Amino acid sequence: MKEWEEFNIFFRYYCIDSLKKKLKGLGSIYDVCVYMFQLSGKFLRPFLLYKVAEFINPSKRDCVLPFALSLELIHNYSLIHDDLPCMDNADFRRGYPTVHKKFGEAEAVLAGDMLLSLAFEYASESRDFEPNKILRVIKKISQYSSYRYLITGQFFDIWIQNGKMEKNVENIKITNFYKTAGLILLSVEIPIILLDPVYTVKYNLIKYGYFLGLLFQLTDDILDNDGLAFVLDRAELKKVIDRLYGKLNSLNVSEELLNIANVIYNRV
Ligand code: IPE
Ligand code: IPE
Ligand code: MG
Ligand code: MG
Repeated sequence: MKEWEEFNIFFRYYCIDSLKKKLKGLGSIYDVCVYMFQLSGKFLRPFLLYKVAEFINPSKRDCVLPFALSLELIHNYSLIHDDLPCMDNADFRRGYPTVHKKFGEAEAVLAGDMLLSLAFEYASESRDFEPNKILRVIKKISQYSSYRYLITGQFFDIWIQNGKMEKNVENIKITNFYKTAGLILLSVEIPIILLDPVYTVKYNLIKYGYFLGLLFQLTDDILDNDGLAFVLDRAELKKVIDRLYGKLNSLNVSEELLNIANVIYNRV
């Protein structure tokens, strides 16, 4: 999707520049924290947030960028910690050495902490929306990136890997939804809070965010051959994916949002 590619060129620079403004005086701390953004991430969450904002109110789409940045920081912090030896013990991310491989384990823990904390600072600095809306968004970011979704999902994931939780379809489904889909749903919910669309638009968007989160994780499972791909056979999983894709296409959202779903669907 050409627009997504163009957005990524701009957004990558926006991330690096935003980090530079806060951390430039800190020498190699900046180098560790900016590393993930120098690699080629897909920026799905920020692009999604931006396109949802555009769908609701095109004149306000640029005002949501600080919140898109917050989500991308949280996403990257979660990956840095996810790759640590005590978690998934991954040596490579986006085709390059992981943060702990390149800079050391303690540095990776600290860089993750830095990005997570900065996410809240950037969100709090927006002056384009009423303070009460920004407070609601910050509360939601805090909930979704912790007990409601992301961290709870990571706990379940580790417990399934360590045999402390049964590896069955139900547990994997809930784990996947929590660890990944929560942040994708959040990319849709933030512009809804900030731009307050009419009920029918809101309804379609929430469904879209929910189905897209699931679709993303299921295609990811096939690509990584883990999660549900581990317990369901491929044809069965493909059927679930096709059903979800059908549901997404029946929703009344913009052509571009459906194109994002299409890109994700076509990954497998
Ligand atoms: C990968 O997410 C990890 C999960 C949350 C499943 P992405 O595929 O969005 O990762 P990047 O940011 O594009 O590398
Ligand atoms: C990562 O999930 C999810 C979060 C970091 C919240 P995975 O561990 O399944 O993703 P990859 O394979 O490392 O990208
Ligand atoms: Mg993991
Ligand atoms: Mg992992």
